[in-house]
Amino acid sequence: MCGIVGYIGSTDVTPLLIEGLKRLEYRGYDSAGIAVLAHEAIHVRKCKGKVSDLERNVQQQPLPPAHIGIAHTRWATHGEPNHVNAHPHLSGNRRLAIVHNGIIENYHELRQALAELGHHFISDTDTEVLVHLIEEYQQREQCTLAEAVRSALKRVVGAYAIVVMDCSQPDQLVAARMSSPLVIGLADEGYFVASDATPIVPHTNKVIYLNDGEIALIRRNSKVQITNIDNQICTPQVQELDMKLEEIEKGGYPHFMLKEIHQQPLTVADAMRGRIDSKVGWIRLGGMTEHLNRILRAPKFTLLGCGTSWHAALIGEYLLEDIARIPVEVEYASEFRYRNPVIRNDEVVIAISQSGETLDTMAALELAKREGAFTYGIVNVVGSSIARMTQAGSYIHCGPEIGVASTKAFTGQVTVLTLMALYLAHLKGVISRSYFHQLLTELETIPEKIQTILRDTSHIEYIASEIKDNNNALYLGRGYNFPVALEGALKLKEISYIHAEGYPAAEMKHGPIALIDENMPVIVITTNTSAHDKIKSNIEEIKARKGKVIAITTVEQSDIQALVDYSITIPKTIEPLSPLLSVIPLQLLAYYIAVMRGCNVDQPRNLAKSVTVE
Ligand code: AGP
Repeated sequence: MCGIVGYIGSTDVTPLLIEGLKRLEYRGYDSAGIAVLAHEAIHVRKCKGKVSDLERNVQQQPLPPAHIGIAHTRWATHGEPNHVNAHPHLSGNRRLAIVHNGIIENYHELRQALAELGHHFISDTDTEVLVHLIEEYQQREQCTLAEAVRSALKRVVGAYAIVVMDCSQPDQLVAARMSSPLVIGLADEGYFVASDATPIVPHTNKVIYLNDGEIALIRRNSKVQITNIDNQICTPQVQELDMKLEEIEKGGYPHFMLKEIHQQPLTVADAMRGRIDSKVGWIRLGGMTEHLNRILRAPKFTLLGCGTSWHAALIGEYLLEDIARIPVEVEYASEFRYRNPVIRNDEVVIAISQSGETLDTMAALELAKREGAFTYGIVNVVGSSIARMTQAGSYIHCGPEIGVASTKAFTGQVTVLTLMALYLAHLKGVISRSYFHQLLTELETIPEKIQTILRDTSHIEYIASEIKDNNNALYLGRGYNFPVALEGALKLKEISYIHAEGYPAAEMKHGPIALIDENMPVIVITTNTSAHDKIKSNIEEIKARKGKVIAITTVEQSDIQALVDYSITIPKTIEPLSPLLSVIPLQLLAYYIAVMRGCNVDQPRNLAKSVTVE
């Protein structure tokens, strides 16, 4: 997720764009850039780092006065965060400049086709390919900027929000969107166009939200013209904004954590984007393709992580052993690094980390590298330390996760691990075609099933109100849902400060059942049909001791719903995919309880988003 902003009007553009980027920095902050059009040329300043670094750069090398420009703060998806990959990107003839938020899935083939036409690229980004494609159409068809943009976008597969500027047409900006947000602000001093309304709010409350497939021609002193990809005219819908700045950053949600929980239908889809196609039975993890010989020969995988990432690693163990028949060990990175483990140089060690900066995970990875193991990263932050330390990896593409309690990163990690297990099982020939196809098809339905859970969360909020004053809680699950029980307990602990423990449900009889009384809420994930009867008897044992049971069930499990105090029904899915659904109500339960207890949900006490200390 990046932040883009553009302006055309009567005021000097540079201060407006820098200020606009500052308001968008929560969307991404690994590099930033600005381009203004003056004296029939495009002048660019960009750098790695934050918007404040760009501001210093511009102060040291001032841009000429200008009344049209575009700017960008980056959250890298393709290409390291550095000066070259920072936006804006220019066409080969330096006549066009573009800023982009999104992922162009077919940029490899477009880049190849353009290179054959003589285009040279200086960055690793998908965005640079797009501006060269626009240039190619403009040159070939001798058409307007808007027409060239339309022709280029017809070739693009993926998500985009773009703003494009052309030296030869200094009185206009062209903007377009598909799946990534873009809004136009109608101010007295001119037009703004941005990823969201935060840069616009200080100047006007009149906005036009672009819809998917729309292209806007934004001209000085003229009305905004909107057409769709087929050049049909669309009527702009001008709205009056009444959200406060802080609300807009949170997308109208009260906390980043709740916003990020609700982003999961999109972020799980983004983790799969360009990696599977169930219609043709295709799957591919780009990071693995060049190393398959070594990966497929490995006698064992070791998965490293901390906290939530360690829980994702546990689910990875179930997936890789159950589906791909690969022996797996899961290690707390903080333990692995000190216990003098046996690591063979034909093994694969996979580090899982949202931030890519967790010191314990980095140290454990260093140890694995010294012993000659093949190292692989499953990371969210592009270009982070762990992403650079590993020999290969897969990004989870879930955008910046601001809430300290990890939610969308967890489901992103589990999605990539699921793809990995399916990919390797398919290559090893250890999965039947029908089961492979069934899993692939079901995986593509998960984002919509998550959306179903998120559509009405009032019942979860009610249950939260019923147990918010308890000082302890137990979370139970079996099989794939045992790690989910651990994750649910961690969520509750870290944001509501209630002591909570996760256990394999069958472990109750080995001690924890002594804790059960009327003051102990027990959250039981019962969606594994294979263990239905056993989980039902676990619940009966708890009820016999006056425990309060909240079950995460599917609609078919009416017998369990009749047995428990509260039940939260989620859509049914195939067992290996159940963590992607069963974790959602646990995230929400922890969130609502924390809010009701007056806790600081986004920045819980004693915690940091990335633990870069020992
Ligand atoms: C999870 O909600 C916590 N914020 C914490 O356990 C986190 O998962 C852990 O510190 C690992 O962070 P990483 O994924 O960035 O490596």
